[in-house]
Amino acid sequence: MNEFAQREHISTRIYPGADQACAHVADAIDKLLRTRQQEGRPAVLGLATGSTPVRLYRELIRRHREEGLSFAHAVTFNLDEYYGLDGSHPESYRRFMQEQLFDHIDIDPANTHVPDGTAAREQVFDACQSYEDAIAQVGGIDIQILGIGRTGHIGFNEPGSGPESRTRLVTLDALTRRDAARDFLGEENVPRHAITMGVGSILEARQIFLLAWGESKATIVAETVEGEQRLAVPASFLQRHKACTFCLDAAAASHLTRIRYPWLVGPVEWTPALIRKAITWLALQVKKPLLKLVDEDYSENGMSDLLTEKGSYNLNIELFNLTQHTITGWPGGKPNADDSHRPERALPHPKRVLVLSPEPLDDVSSMGGTLHRLANQGHEVTVAYLTSGNLAVPDDELRRMLEWMMGMQRDYPEQPSTAYAAQVMRELEAKGKFDLDSADIRHLKGLVRRGEVNSSARILGLSPASLRFLDLPFYEEGRYRRFKPGEADIARMRELLLEIRPHQIFATGYRYDPLSVPALCFGILNEALASFKDEEWLRDCRVWLYRGPGNEWETHEIDMAVPLSPSEFENKMQGIYQQQSQRSQSPGLGKKSDGNSWDVAAELNHGTARTYDALGLPEYEAIEAFKRWPL
Ligand code: F6R
Repeated sequence: MNEFAQREHISTRIYPGADQACAHVADAIDKLLRTRQQEGRPAVLGLATGSTPVRLYRELIRRHREEGLSFAHAVTFNLDEYYGLDGSHPESYRRFMQEQLFDHIDIDPANTHVPDGTAAREQVFDACQSYEDAIAQVGGIDIQILGIGRTGHIGFNEPGSGPESRTRLVTLDALTRRDAARDFLGEENVPRHAITMGVGSILEARQIFLLAWGESKATIVAETVEGEQRLAVPASFLQRHKACTFCLDAAAASHLTRIRYPWLVGPVEWTPALIRKAITWLALQVKKPLLKLVDEDYSENGMSDLLTEKGSYNLNIELFNLTQHTITGWPGGKPNADDSHRPERALPHPKRVLVLSPEPLDDVSSMGGTLHRLANQGHEVTVAYLTSGNLAVPDDELRRMLEWMMGMQRDYPEQPSTAYAAQVMRELEAKGKFDLDSADIRHLKGLVRRGEVNSSARILGLSPASLRFLDLPFYEEGRYRRFKPGEADIARMRELLLEIRPHQIFATGYRYDPLSVPALCFGILNEALASFKDEEWLRDCRVWLYRGPGNEWETHEIDMAVPLSPSEFENKMQGIYQQQSQRSQSPGLGKKSDGNSWDVAAELNHGTARTYDALGLPEYEAIEAFKRWPL
C-alpha cells in the first residue's frame, strides 16, 4: 500500500526508460527459468507480440548468449494470432516470435505454442479449447507478458470482452486495425479477425507483467489503472489479479494522476515547471483566463499551499507573462531586438538552422509554418529527411507513377526513354500483397516521396539545395518494428552535423514508442550530439523539439509558440497536401481525431491556438509549438 493506492488499482512501476523496465521483467523470467531448471519442471511463459516486448526479448536473448540462461525447460503460449495468416506470413505472430525470440534461444520448438490462424472456421472452437487444455496440462502459466492496445485490449480482447472470456475467434476493433495498417502496408490488408486467449484465460496466470512504452499509451494506461473495471477497457479487469504489475516508461506513465496532477494526490514540491503546469491546468479546468483566477479556484483544486507564498494575483500575472513570452513570430530570433524575454536569441543572424525530419512529412505537418518563416526571415535552413519513408508508400501510388512513365514511353516512342518502368511494374504485379518490396521497388517508392517533398518545399519557400536525404541505413535495411539502428546511422548524422554546425536544430522523437522511427532517429541524434559535447559550435546551438506526427506539446510544456495567420496556415496545409502518397497513411492517423493525418495536423495547430485564447492570451488562427531540449 502506498499513497497512490487510493487511485491506482494495479501495482505500477515507473522506469526512466523501456530498457530498465525490461531488465526488471527479464530478472523475474530469469529467476523462474533457473529455479524450474533445478527442479526439473517446466517454466510456463505467456508471451505477447507487437512492438512492446521486443526489447524484453532482446534482453532475454542477450542473457541466453552471454549469461547462459537456458530455455530448455520453457514452454510458451502466445496470446494471439491473426486469423487467416499462416506462420510463413511476414506479419503472422508465429513468424514474429520465431524472428524475435525463438530462433535465437535454446527452446524446443515443440514447446512453443501460438494459436493456429489457419484452422478452418468450423474447427476454430475446438482448436481454442485444445489451446486452453494444453495450458492446463502443463500446470498453467507462471508468468504472463502483456502489452496494451490503445483500445484497452490485452491479447486481442477488444472492448466488450468480459473477465470470463476464454480463447476464441474475435473481430478486431477499427482502431486496432488502423494501428496495424503500417505493418500490413495499408489498412485494407489488415485481417479482420484474430484468435486470442480470453481475459479470463489471462487472469489465470500466476503472475502478470503488462509493459507499455511511449506517450501514445499514456491515456489508456491511466484509464486502466485508475478507472473502474469495465467492458469498455478490457485491461481494467487486470485489477482483479493479485500479482499483476504494470511496468511503464516515464512517457507511458505520464497520465497517471500522481504524475500528471500530483498536487491532487498529496503534498508536492512546487518547482517552477510544476507551478506552470498546475496553474495552466487550473485555468482550463475552471474555464477562466489566467488573469481571472481567484484564491478560491486555487484552494478548491488542491493548490492552496501555492497561495501561502504569493496570492493568486501574483501567481496569475507571473504565469500570464511567462506564457506570453513563449509567443514569437521570429522562431530564429528577432535581429536588432531586445531578446531578454524572447524564446530564441537575436544573434547570430542569420542562423544556420537544421531541421530533422524522421520521415518526409513530419517536418511540414508539425512545423510547416515555422519553416516558412525561418526561410523568409533569411536563415540558412537545411531540412534533412533522415529516412526515405519508402515503407509508407502504398503500391498503388508507385503503380500510378509507373503507368505515367509507361504512357510516356508509348506516346513518345521516339524520345529517349526507359523500359525500366515496365520491368518494375512486372515486379510489382508479381509481388504478393504482403511480400517484402524488392530493393528496386523500395528505391522507386523513395523517389515518390522525394518528389512530394520537393513540391512541399517549394510551397514553404525552401530551395531544392536546402534539402538533404540521408536515407539512414537502419530504415533502408529494416521494416517497421524491426529496425536496428547502429554505428552507420550515427556516423551519417555526425557528418551532417559537422557539415552544417547549426545554431538551431529542430528535432522530434522524444517520448515516442522506443521502436518508432521518430524515437530511433532521436536516439541517433543524441548519440551523435554526445560525441560533439566539447565542441565550440555545439555550445552555441539550441535544440528545439517539435512534437512530431500526430501529437503536440501540452500548453504548459511549450517554450516557443509560433502563431500562424489564416493565410500562413493555409500555405502550410498546401504544403502538406503535396504529400499525396500519405493521404491515408500516417503514424498519427486517428490519434486525435478520426480524420486523416492532414486533419490531425490542422486540428492540433488550431487546438493550441484555442488553448492560448482560453488562457486569455491573444487569439490566433493556429500555433505551432516547440520545447527546448537542454544540451
Ligand atoms: C500482441 C497483443 C496485443 C499487443 C497490443 C500492443 O500479442 O496481444 O495486445 O500487446 O496491441 O501492441 P504494441 O506493442 O505493438 O503497441
